[in-house]
Amino acid sequence: MGINDAGAALHHNMTFELDDDSALLKPLQIGDVSTTNRLFMAPLTRSRAEADATPSELAVTYYAQRVSAGLIVSEATAISRAANGAYPNTPGMYTDRHQQAWAEIADAVHAGGGRMFVQLWHVGRMGHPETSGAETVAPSAIAADMTTHTPTGKKPLPVPRPLRTDEIPAIIADFRAAARRGVDAGMDGVEIHSANGYLLHEFLSDVTNRRDDGYGGSPANRARLTAEVVEAVADEIGAGRVGLRISPGNSAGDMREVDEVGAYEALLNRIGPLGLAYLHLVIEPTQPAFAVIRSAWDGTLVLNTPRGVESNFCELENLVEWGVVGAAAVGRAYLANPDLIDRLLLGAELNEPDAATFYSSGPAGYTDYPTLMELEVA
Ligand SMILES: Cc1cc2nc3c(=O)[nH]c(=O)nc-3n(C[C@H](O)[C@H](O)[C@H](O)COP(=O)(O)O)c2cc1C
Repeated sequence: MGINDAGAALHHNMTFELDDDSALLKPLQIGDVSTTNRLFMAPLTRSRAEADATPSELAVTYYAQRVSAGLIVSEATAISRAANGAYPNTPGMYTDRHQQAWAEIADAVHAGGGRMFVQLWHVGRMGHPETSGAETVAPSAIAADMTTHTPTGKKPLPVPRPLRTDEIPAIIADFRAAARRGVDAGMDGVEIHSANGYLLHEFLSDVTNRRDDGYGGSPANRARLTAEVVEAVADEIGAGRVGLRISPGNSAGDMREVDEVGAYEALLNRIGPLGLAYLHLVIEPTQPAFAVIRSAWDGTLVLNTPRGVESNFCELENLVEWGVVGAAAVGRAYLANPDLIDRLLLGAELNEPDAATFYSSGPAGYTDYPTLMELEVA
C-alpha cells in the first residue's frame, strides 16, 4: 500500500468517539430556547417540497429522524414566491398550506424531544425566473457567474434587476410575516439567512452591492438591510427566538467578498444589544474575520466549519469545551446519519453522504439512511 492509499484508507475509516461528559453533550440556553446538546444540525436544502412550495409528507419523517440534534435548523425557506427559486422544489412560509405543513414538522420534532428553527431566505441574484416565476432581483445589476438547476435543465444565472429603495420595506415585511407564521406553526424560532451569496449577503458584500442609496456604500449602509430584517423579526417574535446566519468571506454563490470584516462588524455592533438567540457563523476559525467577530459578539456563537464530514468533530468539541463557541453545527454528517450522536458515542463508523441525492426527489438519500440499530436488525 502506497502512502496515498494509506491516507485514503485512514480518511475513509476515520471515526471519532464522544465521551458521555463531552462539552458537545451539555445542554445550552439559546435565547428563549433550551437545547439538550450542542451539536446542532446545519440548514440543508433538499429540494423535495411540492410544486406550490409546501414541505412534503416525507419532510416530517426526515426531520423526525434527526431529533437527537440539539437544534435542527431547517432547509432554507422562502419568505415569498418571488423570494424563492434558486433551486427547484424549495419550500416556503408564505401560505396557510405551508404553515400547516411546517406545523406537522414542528409537532413531530417536539414529540421526539427536539428543537427546531426554520431558516428564512430571499434568494436574490441566485434565483432563476424559470424556477421562481419572478424577476431576479439583487442590490445591483451584477450576475453570479454560475449556472443553476432550473425545471428545464442547467442555465446561467441572469443579470439581476437592482431593487428600488421603495421596494425594500416590502421585503422586510415579508421576513416579518414569515417569522410570524413560523412561530405560529410551532417552530421554536427562526434563523435569518444572511449567508452563502443570497439576497441579504449580497447587500453586505462590497462586490455585489454597488448601491448609492442608504443600503449601499459604507459598511453600516451595507449592513442596513440585514439589520432591519433582524430588528423587524425580533420585534415580531421576540429576539430570544431569532438566530442569524452569516458567512464572511465564503465564496459560495460567486461572492468573492473583498471586505470580510467591515460590514459584519457594523452589523454586529448594531444588532448586538437586541439579545438574539444566537449568531451562526459559517467560517474557518483560522480566518481573520473569526477573531474579529468573536470579540464583536457577546451572545452565543454557533460555528459551522465548511469542511466536510470526516470531520473536525475533535476541533469542534475543543472549541465548545474552551468556550470559544457555544455550539457547533454540522450539515452533511446529520444528512447521512440520523443517529449521529449515538454513532459518535460508540465511536462507530458514519454513513457517507451521497451527493447525487442531495437535491433529488423521493426517499432515496433522504429518509433511507440507516441507523446503527436498523443495520443490526437487518
Ligand atoms: C445539500 C446541501 C444543502 C445546503 N443547504 C443550505 C441551506 O439551505 N441554507 C444554508 O444556510 N446552508 C446550506 N448549506 C450549507 C450547510 O449548512 C453547511 O454550511 C455546509 O454543508 C458545511 O457544513 P458540513 O461540512 O457540516 O456539511 C447546504 C449544504 C449542502 C451540502
